[in-house]
Amino acid sequence: MLDFSGQVVLVTGAGSPKGIGRTVAHTFARQGAQVVLCDINQAGVEANVREMEEKGWKAYGAVADLCNPDSVKALTEEIVRRYGRIDVLVNNAGLSQKVTVEDMTLEDMERIFRINVFGLFLMTQAVCRVMKKQMYGRIVHLSSVSAKRGGGIFGGAHYSASKAAVLGFSKNLAREISPYGITTNCVCPGLINTDIWKSLPKEQAEAVIAGIPMGRPGETQEVADTIVFLASREASYITGEEIDINGGQHMD
Ligand SMILES: NC(=O)c1ccc[n+]([C@@H]2O[C@H](COP(=O)([O-])OP(=O)(O)OC[C@H]3O[C@@H](n4cnc5c(N)ncnc54)[C@H](O)[C@@H]3O)[C@@H](O)[C@H]2O)c1
Repeated sequence: MLDFSGQVVLVTGAGSPKGIGRTVAHTFARQGAQVVLCDINQAGVEANVREMEEKGWKAYGAVADLCNPDSVKALTEEIVRRYGRIDVLVNNAGLSQKVTVEDMTLEDMERIFRINVFGLFLMTQAVCRVMKKQMYGRIVHLSSVSAKRGGGIFGGAHYSASKAAVLGFSKNLAREISPYGITTNCVCPGLINTDIWKSLPKEQAEAVIAGIPMGRPGETQEVADTIVFLASREASYITGEEIDINGGQHMD
C-alpha cells in the first residue's frame, strides 16, 4: 500500500459506471486520499461518489466540461477553495469513435481532439499553476496502445492520433515542470475489460485475444495500480515516461 493520506487527487472522466476512472478513484481513496471525481455526466459522477461515501472514503463530485475553459477554471478554483491544494491529476476523460479515415469528417476529428487533447491541455495548465506554487505534483495521462500501433478495434485514426499527441505533450511538459517538483507520465492501456470490450461480438473478441500473449483483456484495477504508483511520492525520479499495460500486445 502506498500512502496518500493528506493528498488531494483529481480524476477526470470519473463518472463512468464501469470505467477506468472509477477504479482509479477507488484505488486512491482506499490508500487515504481525498479524491475529487469530475465528469460531464452529472448522474454518473453522483452515483460513483455515493458508492465511495458508503465505503467511508473521502470523495467529492464535480460536474465539469473539460473542453470549456471557464468550466475548468471554476473546477480548479473550487478544489483549491475546499482543500487548499491539488497533489495529483489523472487526465482520464476521453472519447473514442470507430470510423474509417475515408468516412471521417472534420467534425469527427475535432470532437475527438477537443476532449482527448485540448481538454487535457486545459486541465493540465490550470492544475500546473496550483502545483507550481506547492512545488509538488504528479500528473498521469491516459494515452493508449493505439497511439503506438494504431487502434482499429474501437477507435479510428483520429483516436490514435489524439493519444499519440498526449505522449508528445507529456514529454514536453516534463521539461518545463521538472524544476517545480512536478512529474508527468503516461499510461498506455491495451484492451481493458470495460463495457466497450464486453460489447464486442464473440468471434471478433477471440480474434483480438489471439493477438495478446497473456490471452486476456486487462482489468481496470491493473491500470489503476500503475497510475497510482506513478502518482506516488515513491515514483519521484520518473517523468516524461510512458508505461504500456497491454499483456504483451505491443512491446517497445
Ligand atoms: N477502455 C479501454 O480499453 C481503454 C484502452 C486504452 C485507453 N483508454 C483510455 O482510458 C480513459 C478511460 O477509458 P474508459 O474506457 O474508462 O472510458 P469511459 O468512456 O468509460 O469514461 C470516460 C469518461 O469521460 C467523460 N467525458 C467525456 N467527455 C468529457 C468532457 N468534455 N468533460 C468531462 N468528462 C468527459 C465521459 O462522460 C466518461 O464518463 C480514456 O481516456 C480512454 O481513451 C481506455
